[in-house]
Amino acid sequence: MSKLFIYYSNTGNGDLVANRLEELGYDVRKVIPKKDLPKSFFFKVMTGGFLAGINAKAKLVNFDANIDGCEKIVIGSPVWNGRLSSPINKVLTLLDLKDKKVTFVLYAGSGEAKHAPKQIQKIVSDANIIFLKEPKKYSEEIKKLEDI
Ligand SMILES: Cc1cc2nc3c(=O)[nH]c(=O)nc-3n(C[C@H](O)[C@H](O)[C@H](O)COP(=O)(O)O)c2cc1C
Repeated sequence: MSKLFIYYSNTGNGDLVANRLEELGYDVRKVIPKKDLPKSFFFKVMTGGFLAGINAKAKLVNFDANIDGCEKIVIGSPVWNGRLSSPINKVLTLLDLKDKKVTFVLYAGSGEAKHAPKQIQKIVSDANIIFLKEPKKYSEEIKKLEDI
């Protein structure tokens, strides 16, 4: 039985989570959207904020949704506009999370998310949620992953 981390990252905070979970014995699958956010900060925030606000589901490149035999699933998303990111919204339509132990790791500038917990609860009612404040800036935040 394996432990799996499925995540998206636009600016590298999620990659730090992936590195640590890999050290803790997780297999890692990074989600790649067909079209990522624009590079410029202004258009990035406008586009991502809008997409998250309408609960958009990004098209993905070759996503492997098979989680048979995985004992524990951790799903990582940046917080966009208080919500889950559009690549992770798509992932959640593809995974069969029934009877799985699921933890979400949400990384955000503020270390919190207004709407994401409700979105998660609709899909996995008993999911555990861990919030991290941008681990690229606050490296001690990574320690919260020891409790997973
Ligand atoms: C489109 C967009 C919207 C964001 N909205 C929020 C937000 O609502 N609250 C917050 O705390 N941080 C927000 N952020 C900051 C990111 O959540 C934060 O930088 C996160 O760590 C990024 O993860 P990544 O580097 O793995 O992509 C936003 C960033 C982007 C690009």
